[in-house]
Amino acid sequence: MTDPDLLTSDLLAAVDAAATPEALEAVRVRALGKQGEVTALLKSLGGMTPDERQVEGPRIHALREAVTVALAARKASLEQAALDARLASETLDLTLPVDLPPTGTIHPVSQVMDELAEIFADLGFAVATGPEIEDDWHNFTALNIPETHPARAMHDTFYFEPQARTAGDEARRMLLRTHTSPVQIRTMLANKPPIRIIAPGRTYRSDSDATHTPMFHQVEGLVIDRGITLGHLKWTLETFLKAYFEREDIVLRLRPSYFPFTEPSAEVDVGYTLIKGKRVIGGSGDDANGGWMEVLGSGMVHPKVIAACGLDPAEWQGFAFGCGIDRLAMLKYGMDDLRAFFDGDVRWLKHYGFSALDVPTLSGGVGA
Ligand code: PHE
Repeated sequence: MTDPDLLTSDLLAAVDAAATPEALEAVRVRALGKQGEVTALLKSLGGMTPDERQVEGPRIHALREAVTVALAARKASLEQAALDARLASETLDLTLPVDLPPTGTIHPVSQVMDELAEIFADLGFAVATGPEIEDDWHNFTALNIPETHPARAMHDTFYFEPQARTAGDEARRMLLRTHTSPVQIRTMLANKPPIRIIAPGRTYRSDSDATHTPMFHQVEGLVIDRGITLGHLKWTLETFLKAYFEREDIVLRLRPSYFPFTEPSAEVDVGYTLIKGKRVIGGSGDDANGGWMEVLGSGMVHPKVIAACGLDPAEWQGFAFGCGIDRLAMLKYGMDDLRAFFDGDVRWLKHYGFSALDVPTLSGGVGA
């Protein structure tokens, strides 16, 4: 009869040596199959005397147990190795360059934002940002927009479901910002004056037609310093619009207006001239073939807004303006439907988009 101990070391060595699932299966059949060596030993127990069986029984069962455990362990490690090899060979390197030539373009809105940053950097303005998901306090209250102001009505503002909060916590009600003006508040709270920033970004209002989309873009401007006057505002806007439209004959008209967060407030129109039926920015709107187009809202920052940000309005004054970026892009680059801006139509982007190499600079002309 085969010695169980010898057979154990023999079979365990064979299990270890099996390099593939097929080789391992052959070892299993050789040991535990119907004609297997271990099976034969187990069968031999039947022909033994009770005394012999008492000695050999435990040895043979221990052999079967050891071989079974070794086969299972080897099977698991072969399966793991196969999986590792497969994972390694199926890896996708996402950093590899694509075979196709690049077809994307810089969206006109992005291009105009870059132009604005370039123009205002030259005037000493930094670029600031704020969250698109805002709270009531930054979007309205701190900007002196009282609870009853129509801008708060549900049809204008996208509100989030009010969250279960402690009573009196109304100021934390979340919404999609309706303008970039909350960045004024965030900037004044986080920085000491003097402050000179522009804040371009997305804004949201529940409104949709050929000239309004629920999401649109604004750029905010804010200057806070000592002794700031309406004259600084007018000069800044004139300088900005001349640089942006790249012409010297820009004529502005400031119309008295009302915004809760500025006092006095002015809406700013820019003169255009009709050339072959098209409105071209430039010239006085009062000329025979001219007209005025509203481009932005502005004013001197309301003392209540300055105070809400913890500054003393007796010491610090400033001006602010807000301007629709999509509108600015349409006026300069000649698109006539705002909705096409957000359709993602590759043909439109090919036509109106910019090359990634067209980085706007003042010396090269911001329009690239
Ligand atoms: N926030 C105003 C709007 O969205 C624009 C504005 C900004 C007016 C700053 C005055 C000063 O209409």
